[in-house]
Amino acid sequence: MINKVVIPAAGKGTRMLELAKDRPKHLIDVLDKPFIYYVLKNLQAAGFSEMILVIGNHADKMREFAAGAGKEFNLTLVDQFETMGTAKYGTAIPVLAAQAAVGNEPFICIYGDNLYSQRDLQAMHEMNDEFNYVSLLHVPNPERYGVPIMNGEMVVDFVEKPKEFISNWVSIGCYKFTPEIFSEAAKVGKSPRGEYELTDAVATLAKQGKVKGRKMLDYWLDFGNPDDIKKVGDFLQTQS
Ligand code: G1P
Repeated sequence: MINKVVIPAAGKGTRMLELAKDRPKHLIDVLDKPFIYYVLKNLQAAGFSEMILVIGNHADKMREFAAGAGKEFNLTLVDQFETMGTAKYGTAIPVLAAQAAVGNEPFICIYGDNLYSQRDLQAMHEMNDEFNYVSLLHVPNPERYGVPIMNGEMVVDFVEKPKEFISNWVSIGCYKFTPEIFSEAAKVGKSPRGEYELTDAVATLAKQGKVKGRKMLDYWLDFGNPDDIKKVGDFLQTQS
């Protein structure tokens, strides 16, 4: 059983344009609740007992949320900018920011702007072997994602935004990590797009035979563009 989940939610939300100007995009309302509320609700229903929310941009607004509508969740807030500074950017940074809160135990990592089903999250919660895991989804446009190179169920390498076709099975940012991820994440250098990529740390563990892939059971919804507000809202209405 895995009890802790790290939720990176420090980013600028640039693609949300004006809507994310005065608050994190995670706090944009979908129906009558901020997007992040649904993420946390599904995590709680899946059985996670401690949710480590990594904040940064408009951190004050996230703190307000945690003290208000977010009160029903067992949230630990970590400020990425206080812990890691503001100069370094990319998916490896919030994971490093959460290291002290996670301690020396395995954990799940899901992006705060992504919605996954309770069933998938429960499968992650119930993991009990010593491997790291990357969740995989079949998509028509793999060049936009991190794409693992597989050998059976083992991930042997990991390429961010591949220029040459590898596979349609991509990573959708729903990971199980052992504490080994921290030392690897601390070692990654800047990628071609100028970011510190978590994918590079996963690639190193993959080359050591420590990473497996798991196929998603259900849906994955990204909350990146203004259009996604309606898409996610419509989807949630079909679920209730
Ligand atoms: C990030 C990850 C990538 C993953 C994608 C979807 O990409 O780096 O590996 O496939 O999220 O979860 P980004 O959205 O930062 O371009």
